[in-house]
Amino acid sequence: MKNKLYFDIILREKSRMAFEATQKEQESVGYYSLPEQDVSSILEYCRNISSDVEDIAVIGIGGSSLGAKAIYEFLKPVENLSRTLHFFESTDPINIKNILDSINVDKTHFLVISKSGTTVETFSIYKYILSKHDKSDSYTFITDPGSDLEKYAKHINASVLHLPKHVGGRFSVLSVVGLVPLALCGVDIKALLQGADNIKASYFKNGYLQEILLKKSLFYAKNHAKYHINCLFAYSESLKYFCEWYVQLWGESLGKKQRHSAFNVGLTPIGLIGPKDQHSFLQLIMEGTRDKSVTFIKIDDFQEDLCIIPDITLPHLESLDTLNNLPFSTLINMQCDSVIEALKEENIPLDSITLPKMDAENIGSLIYYYELLTSLVGQLIDVNTYDQPGVEAAKIILKKKLAL
Ligand code: PA5
Repeated sequence: MKNKLYFDIILREKSRMAFEATQKEQESVGYYSLPEQDVSSILEYCRNISSDVEDIAVIGIGGSSLGAKAIYEFLKPVENLSRTLHFFESTDPINIKNILDSINVDKTHFLVISKSGTTVETFSIYKYILSKHDKSDSYTFITDPGSDLEKYAKHINASVLHLPKHVGGRFSVLSVVGLVPLALCGVDIKALLQGADNIKASYFKNGYLQEILLKKSLFYAKNHAKYHINCLFAYSESLKYFCEWYVQLWGESLGKKQRHSAFNVGLTPIGLIGPKDQHSFLQLIMEGTRDKSVTFIKIDDFQEDLCIIPDITLPHLESLDTLNNLPFSTLINMQCDSVIEALKEENIPLDSITLPKMDAENIGSLIYYYELLTSLVGQLIDVNTYDQPGVEAAKIILKKKLAL
């Protein structure tokens, strides 16, 4: 992974302290150690799921679904995955019906994922699906040890897998929460973790990413009042759900009351997909209020050399002949580079990340890069990155309304 920084910034004492804080957090925050976990029990578990199962369906929301969806949707177009993965994450009745209509429930294994084990969306959908299909061996439950969900699963003699200790929902994609659904579809989860481990090693063992992540997080923290909107502009349709995952990670982790003051702070994440959003949101970045920074994500090798603009001349449109014989993969990256150049002219703060190719290792790297960056920014803007009192408040009100 290459990361070019164009921000004008200097390393400070503050970032040294933030680095030390992340080093210390490794003792108490569980996601840091996920890259080196032993996945043999996960793979063994997946091997025991019947080969008659054709589809896997996650019933979960937020941190319990977004990460697996980001990785699955990134890999699906380029890898020959063995099963299709579906996500029941919305109480939208049409969405529930559409997904149910698209699967054969008798050949589907359902993963009910909830760290807390009580989330309204997850259990309303689970009850509905259970009413259509009540074989307990078609369900696996993933939750925290000791939760009411675990007790329920044991009661019906269904399988339960546990989240590792101290891993928060939105940081859980590289745990059983993401690895089980992905492994069941044939994703190489060892490669995924290898990608994450490479980033971890580079950051903690003084590799090139340490300075990059420290500089970048310091920029966000120093300028969080001015450039409080952070756009992730990904030049690949396959990164659409990665952008959704980023929005949750960034928004839910960094939008908080500061720990040592009465101020509310936050950085607003926006996910954009190029070139489509060049023809909409880009205007706002170029000429709107100067409150945005942009990170571009490019794919170096789309592994799709056959998709080339054909050598065709269109009458009256001969000026477009220069496009002829150009691979789309070259075109899309030229488009990204052109936007970078235009924004640099306007002094809009930006950086770019290039993934060498679309595979499990690279998406694992990108996930871990963003997790580390979030932890660093959280330290620097003085928030508790790992709680979500704002989300909890709405959950409590809904439960009161439902008299739960
Ligand atoms: O990151 C978080 O903690 C949240 O987004 C949760 O993942 C989300 O609210 C779902 O919670 P649970 O997994 O407990 O059902």
